[in-house]
Amino acid sequence: MTASAYDWSSTLKGFHDQAWKSLARGVADRRAAARHPTLATVGLNGGAEARTVVLRAADRTDGMLELHTDRDSEKVAELHANPAASLHIWDLRVRMQIRLRVLIRCHQGALATERWQQVPSVSRWAYGGNPAPGGLIHRPTDYRADTDVDRFMLLLCTVQSMELLHLAEDGHRRALFRRADGFAGNWLAP
Ligand SMILES: Cc1cc2nc3c(=O)[nH]c(=O)nc-3n(C[C@H](O)[C@H](O)[C@H](O)COP(=O)(O)O)c2cc1C
Repeated sequence: MTASAYDWSSTLKGFHDQAWKSLARGVADRRAAARHPTLATVGLNGGAEARTVVLRAADRTDGMLELHTDRDSEKVAELHANPAASLHIWDLRVRMQIRLRVLIRCHQGALATERWQQVPSVSRWAYGGNPAPGGLIHRPTDYRADTDVDRFMLLLCTVQSMELLHLAEDGHRRALFRRADGFAGNWLAP
């Protein structure tokens, strides 16, 4: 890819636009980098916890992202204790690191019921196994997969800030966009 392919990185607006393009692509294309962000939370013992998740929706207008999980997974207990979390993506295609600070609301209301209708039956087995995710078992097969709509939970992420780092041969570029000032953005030293 030539330097001109990264023209978007010369303005704050272009930079911000590109990040949301990456996120939208992650939702639409299962091979895109942003399909699988790393979600970091504060663990119940105070340490950092990180795991891969699937990005299910990205709404730029409201600065919202959506993830799906099992209600009985450890991350939900962590988010109830501390809703502040981070999402991390490295999009090699545009050589951009996206760091999102988010507040996460664990949701099981009407929107979750609506989303459940769109979850393919083969994927519904990810919600409802016994024992719950992370439970100790004696053998790897001591586990019964099950599907339980009551265990299906949305993680609704409100983006508080978005920090972008673009690696380019003619100089790296870094910028921070914060909800507090309407995501106007500031350049940072890379
Ligand atoms: C490619 C990939 C995609 C995953 N997607 C999800 C997901 O969308 N939601 C989820 O809860 N776990 C997902 N997982 C499993 C998590 O990484 C994690 O192992 C699991 O949720 C338990 O995490 P916890 O104990 O911290 O709650 C995925 C794992 C991989 C490897």
